Amino acid sequence: AVARGEFYGYYLGWAGPARRAYAAGLALELPSGYSRADCVVVCGMGGSGAAGDYLAALSAAYGGLPVYVVKSAEPPRWVRGCLVYAVSFSGNTRETLNCASRAYRLGGYVVAVTTGGRLAAWARRVGVPVAVVEEAPAPRAGWPQLFYTLLGSLKAAGLIQVPGGHVEESIQLLGERERAEAEARELAEWLQGSRGSLVVLAPEPYYPVAVRTRSELAENAKLTADAAQVPEAGHNMLEAWARSGDTRILLLDPGEEPWSTLLHQAAGLARPASLHVARLRGGSMLSRMVWGTWLAGLASVRYALDAGLDPEPVKTIKAFRRVVE
Ligand code: PA5
Repeated sequence: AVARGEFYGYYLGWAGPARRAYAAGLALELPSGYSRADCVVVCGMGGSGAAGDYLAALSAAYGGLPVYVVKSAEPPRWVRGCLVYAVSFSGNTRETLNCASRAYRLGGYVVAVTTGGRLAAWARRVGVPVAVVEEAPAPRAGWPQLFYTLLGSLKAAGLIQVPGGHVEESIQLLGERERAEAEARELAEWLQGSRGSLVVLAPEPYYPVAVRTRSELAENAKLTADAAQVPEAGHNMLEAWARSGDTRILLLDPGEEPWSTLLHQAAGLARPASLHVARLRGGSMLSRMVWGTWLAGLASVRYALDAGLDPEPVKTIKAFRRVVE
């Protein structure tokens, strides 16, 4: 457990772990046979699996090997020959442990990404590489460690085409603390002040940021939200939102065409009870994703602190973890 203020301070200081994790990912040595990989699988739950969602979207947009994300204990049947990142911050998540060992038995090139725990012990026992990541006050607060380690490792192996300049810019953006804090405060105030069911809406390539925002709000702020993307929501959810009249929409706007126009048009048709636009800042898709993720973390913790809640404990998640053990 950490003091409430420290939890917020940890999020604010994301630039440091991001930079160190990227360097560690670039330097991670993989066995020579791993270079034969022709697909990438990421096994991980919650805050750990989230890193895989981002890489899948980035690989689709920038180019690279297809990335498939598994949020259960079952790797895909075709996992043989794939580079498999088993990501668990604690190293003790049952689904991820099972996914890793099954993928290994089926012929996947497994890498464990973790602070330690049973995952690191298993990996060392069977002889697969372990990328040890820095500690954080909670797995979700360690998003930069997990994401940038994977990104660095994929870059070093030549399996994702994100330019180095974009990575550098995204880490530098995490130095803009004053602006991030001001925007997070504004978002937290809107969350406190508005009523109705909450939807986080993003354009398709940025959907992982909407999902992460939803999960940060759930875990840190103990708030219920849904995550949706355009154009898909325009083919289903829009009908219900427009009719309900009590939908609050948090719009994640990358300021990028044709997405921004489509996003605002969809939000207009939804006739929301209240609308907040969070601008995803940055000069590249990667930076905009990182900015949105940072904002979600800071705003969710800010909301909790202002509401007198402790953002760190997740006692119901812990109860569920005992169920799957
Ligand atoms: O962010 C959290 O605290 C959770 O979503 C965890 O990431 C999730 O329970 C999985 O645990 P771990 O990341 O340790 O594998």
